[in-house]
Amino acid sequence: MSTATFDAVIIGAGAAGLFCAAQAAQRGVKVLLLDHAAKLAEKIRISGGGRCNFTNVNAGPANYLSQNPHFCRSALSRYTAQDFMELVQRHGITFHEKHKGQLFCDRSAGDIIDMLLRECEAAGVTRWQPCGVQSLAHDAAQGHYVLQTARGEVHASSVVLACGGLSIPKIGATDLAWRLAEQFGLRTVPPRPGLVPLTFDATAWQPFAALAGVSLPVEISVEVQQGKRKQRVRFNEDLLFTHRGLSGPAILQISNYWLEGQPLQINLIPDADSALPDAPQREPLLDLLMAAKARGSRKLVANEIGHYLPSRLLEHWMSSHPGCQRPLAETADRALQQLCQSLQQWHITPNGSEGYAKAEVTLGGIDTRDVSSQTMETRQPGLYVIGEAVDVTGWLGGYNFQWAWASAHACAEAL
Ligand code: FDA
Repeated sequence: MSTATFDAVIIGAGAAGLFCAAQAAQRGVKVLLLDHAAKLAEKIRISGGGRCNFTNVNAGPANYLSQNPHFCRSALSRYTAQDFMELVQRHGITFHEKHKGQLFCDRSAGDIIDMLLRECEAAGVTRWQPCGVQSLAHDAAQGHYVLQTARGEVHASSVVLACGGLSIPKIGATDLAWRLAEQFGLRTVPPRPGLVPLTFDATAWQPFAALAGVSLPVEISVEVQQGKRKQRVRFNEDLLFTHRGLSGPAILQISNYWLEGQPLQINLIPDADSALPDAPQREPLLDLLMAAKARGSRKLVANEIGHYLPSRLLEHWMSSHPGCQRPLAETADRALQQLCQSLQQWHITPNGSEGYAKAEVTLGGIDTRDVSSQTMETRQPGLYVIGEAVDVTGWLGGYNFQWAWASAHACAEAL
């Protein structure tokens, strides 16, 4: 087989790789984009429930986790959610805002893949897929990289690692970024699953298993160490009970911050308008009950709080508070306090997560200390890293794709 020569080889034709390839080729760079998976951009296809939550209009550094929280600032400010929206609009793709700035395709995630493919084709990107990479070496004497691939040897002055994280191995995720980082002496942050359902010890979860399918808005928080300070990270989102544990947006968000052994604190009746659409007033639950008790309410406690909770959850909770199974006027203050505390400060400690098979993202990646935040070039000259392979992970809600676009754009400008 003859040797092919390109200016840049991009390994991984996912969100970041496709976008980087198109942007670089539009600037005149001769690009080879290769991916070992049989199907193109499966992760985009399954994203956002098939509608691809392709960006978030509020995306900013505060929505990302990294050992260096400032690292993402430059790329995000040079390629914004507005920029990507304009591209989507130029391609005639219609979309809508769903919740907290999240933008979804009206039709399907396939529209975003087709758009990225059209951009690549128009710019003359060469795409080899499926095509695995057997090895990558730097030939210092020649000043270029040598790749052994399933389709032969390739030479290129730059290589971009766009091969993502470890999430969803069945559609092509591998640890290639970590392996190549090690080969080139780059530091890495150990990977762990993110945006993932959390699980509980089977015995401890047994009483809650019957609640599978129950969903409600909550405030969820966990304590995190930020530098020398401890701080609580909070999200107001929906919680979903499952057979094995907890899921839903609230859990996916907090899973990025949760570390083994830490308890979660969940307020099942958060004191917020959005969470209490039918709330007669804004006082905390205990104040509300004490006021009703003082008025001599003959209503059962369950009926007093019934409109705040799904009925199956209410029933379950009341069954473990026998002291509250009576009219409010006859219920001891202490029993009411305990009930309210259990509902509004429910502490529960997961024993793990559903792992990479269910995780939407991978936390960790190539250590940002070894990457330029301006160009995404690593300490190894000519070797770049973009997207999820970098130690930058976004919240749920379009933030991870926005990082893929922004980091790809920063890299493409530098190739
Ligand atoms: P990505 O994983 O997209 O691409 C990496 C590519 O590299 C893959 O095509 C893979 O085949 C290839 N590759 C890996 N190893 C290789 C090797 N050894 N050789 C060659 N190729 C290799 N985010 C968001 O913002 N909004 C959303 O709606 C969703 N929804 C969502 C749903 C689900 C179910 C998941 C799993 C994830 C999401 N995400 C998301 C996260 C988002 O999909 C993710 O952050 C981006 O796809 C990351 O883009 P990358 O290009 O970095 O990796």
